[in-house]
Amino acid sequence: MGFSERQETLVKESWAVMKEDIPNLSVYLYEMILEIAPEVRGLFSFLKDTNELPKNNPKLKSHAVKVFKMVCEAAIQLREKGEVVITGSTLKYLGSVHLQKGIVDPQFEVVKEALIRTVEKAMGEKCSEEMKDAWREAYDHLAAAVKNEMKQEATAAAAALTV
Ligand code: HEM
Repeated sequence: MGFSERQETLVKESWAVMKEDIPNLSVYLYEMILEIAPEVRGLFSFLKDTNELPKNNPKLKSHAVKVFKMVCEAAIQLREKGEVVITGSTLKYLGSVHLQKGIVDPQFEVVKEALIRTVEKAMGEKCSEEMKDAWREAYDHLAAAVKNEMKQEATAAAAALTV
């Protein structure tokens, strides 16, 4: 079954609430990421040399907001077009950043779980299984697009080396 109007509404509704509390929710997302997988700390330029979680760090906030917002955009596209379409240069950028950082599939699952906990935190009692599933599904489609681009870039880079 495709992504439903109700699922799109649930994601949009919660993103509208989350938008009002970006500084706290960004830090919370990272608290959850590090709780689930402390070893990823070293991947992030703004975390690798500190044991703290920097509050109001622009890079930390930027990554968290990109994840929240792009999942919401993915939900809208899934409903409208039945697929996630990231425009050319953004997709290339996402592919190359994550390829360079060596991000692997299980880490996409870590960020998904941390994202769901962040939605729960933001929505409190208004959070439902249905709402979390809508976020999970939209995230999975977005992550698949990013992973696919990473694969293509890795293949292209390997081909360039053999010439
Ligand atoms: C599918 C969801 C994701 C989106 C939309 C996303 C988006 C981005 C973007 C746009 C950047 C460029 C820098 C910025 O604007 O903040 C970035 C950087 C980065 N991403 Fe992601 N990302 C996602 C998932 C992940 C996952 C699963 C990991 C693994 C832990 C990860 C790790 C990183 C790292 C380490 C950087 C470099 C940050 C730095 O050191 O400044 N991302 N990501």
